[in-house]
Amino acid sequence: MQHITILTGAGISAESGLGTFRDEDGLWTQYDLSEVATPEGFARNPALVHEFYNARRANAFDASPNAAHEALARLEKDWPGTLMLVTQNVDDLHERAGSQNVVHMHGTLAGALCASCTYRWPAPRVMDHEAPCPKCTQPATRPDIVWFDEVPYRMNEIAETVARTDLFVSIGTSGEVYPAAGFVAEARNAGADTLEINLEASRTPGLFGRVIEGPASQTVPAWVDEVLRKG
Ligand code: OAD
Repeated sequence: MQHITILTGAGISAESGLGTFRDEDGLWTQYDLSEVATPEGFARNPALVHEFYNARRANAFDASPNAAHEALARLEKDWPGTLMLVTQNVDDLHERAGSQNVVHMHGTLAGALCASCTYRWPAPRVMDHEAPCPKCTQPATRPDIVWFDEVPYRMNEIAETVARTDLFVSIGTSGEVYPAAGFVAEARNAGADTLEINLEASRTPGLFGRVIEGPASQTVPAWVDEVLRKG
């Protein structure tokens, strides 16, 4: 086995104290997704959207990587083949655990984006819609997050990697949101082995070749040990 592609979701950061979206008490049970995570919601009420992401940013900055993030960083360092880590998460816990090849397909809380000219710059801890863009000076600052109805980042690169991967692993994601939810079928159709690591198997039975159930901070380090032992 040479190439491993890993897709992570909110479940990998749950034990770092960051809320998931669709679990009981998840963020989408507390907030209306269409108000805080769509371009239309932002156009209607930018202050509410900034309030939501400022809270996410504060939580993420105060959180620490857990054993699952650390195990994936160790896998990247010690794996003799190649590895791409694609995350739907907008926190930076993978990077802070030491992962280097991380693709943030849904953007990042660490970034600001000008809704007017698309210039990007490092996010302040508290972001304000009225703050002028450093480039075009328009008061159109938004978080550099991919919202529903927007196209995730680096999709060509991800598609190429998924098509040539030997093993596709999905960790801590419900598989409810496309295009990420479709990667497993693309990998399997291209001949890859597929593995889901999640608190509970999340999807259609048989979608993944293998399922490991349990909290990520325990299951992911154990799986990484297994992979590195077998080589
Ligand atoms: P979800 O909240 O949909 O799913 C989280 C998954 O993690 C669930 O399947 C849980 O069972 C699992 N989980 C919870 N705690 C866990 C633990 N300790 N160990 C392992 N697994 C655990 O989150 P995502 O699948 O990441 O997008 O959501 C996908 C996208 O939907 C997000 O990127 C976000 C959201 O709306 C945007 O905002 C654009």
